[in-house]
Amino acid sequence: MKTYLVTGGAGFIGSNFVHYMLKKHKDIHIINLDKLTYAGNLENLKKVEKNQGYTFVKGDICDKPLVEGLFKKYDIDYVVNFAAESHVDRSIREPEVFAKTNVVGTVTLLNAAKTAWETENGYKEGKKYLQVSTDEVYGSLGKEGYFMETTPLDPHSPYSSSKASADLMVKAFYDTYKMPLNTTRCSNNYGPYQFPEKLIPLMINNCLSKKPLPVYGDGLNIRDWLYVEDHCKAIDMVLDKGRIGEVYNVGGHNERNNLYIIKTIISYVHDNVDSSVDESLIKYVEDRKGHDRRYGIDPEKIKTELGWYPETSFEAGIVKTIKWYLDNKSWMDNLTSGTYEEYYKKYYKI
Ligand code: NAD
Ligand code: DAU
Repeated sequence: MKTYLVTGGAGFIGSNFVHYMLKKHKDIHIINLDKLTYAGNLENLKKVEKNQGYTFVKGDICDKPLVEGLFKKYDIDYVVNFAAESHVDRSIREPEVFAKTNVVGTVTLLNAAKTAWETENGYKEGKKYLQVSTDEVYGSLGKEGYFMETTPLDPHSPYSSSKASADLMVKAFYDTYKMPLNTTRCSNNYGPYQFPEKLIPLMINNCLSKKPLPVYGDGLNIRDWLYVEDHCKAIDMVLDKGRIGEVYNVGGHNERNNLYIIKTIISYVHDNVDSSVDESLIKYVEDRKGHDRRYGIDPEKIKTELGWYPETSFEAGIVKTIKWYLDNKSWMDNLTSGTYEEYYKKYYKI
């Protein structure tokens, strides 16, 4: 039986990963360490909270005694570090917490895992640390080309700079201590349980409540969209078969510009939910500072080495996603009825 320490498991991707793993593997134990910031939501995990293979621990990845205590209490085989401050706009306003959680938190986890796993001649068998990073560490692309694992790091926002800093610490733990680890760098995820500050759930929520749809700049920035379940599968495969010390990019030629996405959501809601919803809801607003123009992943390495490929096209994934938010309206209502409304009014003056 394998034991996983999953951090940030109450957030968007982390909670999808917990569901994915408990469904796929019968004999595992997942310990979910999460601080429950504004982005952490235990409602995401309601369906598994009584599962014998699942344990929740409320806490901070920067809390060294707590993290070390978990390694003493459990024989942890894998660490999957999702815990992070993840929103670029928030990082532009409040960079400090990004440095703390994303950098100091990562080092705290790495060091605790190293101490627990070290032996006289190396490390205990079968252990691995996996850092969930982002394609944003590579910076921004022009019209041509893709991010490869060899692309130099060139982050621009406080968020991406904190993630790149964490990646360098992970690299240092391999280069210096030969610790068994991998880093994955994925593109923009979408799917169930995503907090409505990110483009897709924000636009779905605003369409359904007929609020303006804020488009930054000209709306032609491009992201490479990855359905969250495809990402979870990639992480599982990298844990299992990824070559120690390697970085794997996860994404797959699903590039779309923001306006295309927003218009797709409007059109679905117009045709299936409320015919009065149309493009007049679109409002062009001030551009994000330092807004990266285009992200696009070359997934060749993970495809050829591990046999992973994204199974969900954007067109199929976006319909599944909109349907999930329609079927789980109370999930969105519970989130947006609290401090969210204040946040929204303060930062989206439209
Ligand atoms: P999220 O913001 O939805 O969730 C983050 C989770 O981490 C929350 O549950 C939060 O409570 C928890 N957390 C925050 N600070 C913590 C701390 N100090 N200690 C313990 N828990 C803490 O994020 P997400 O979108 O699910 O992203 C997960 C990871 O994937 C992040 O590392 C992010 O950088 C990376 N990533 C995300 C995307 C994306 O499109 N969402 C793409 C690439 C990489
Ligand atoms: O590429 C991976 C990254 O994707 C992750 O590392 C981050 O954690 C995740 O938040 C995401 O970052 P982005 O900045 O790309 O995602 P976001 O949803 O904030 O924005 C996507 C695009 O949509 C971007 O070009 C900005 C634009 N946008 C966003 C919002 C919230 C708008 O035009 N209007 C909006 O209201």
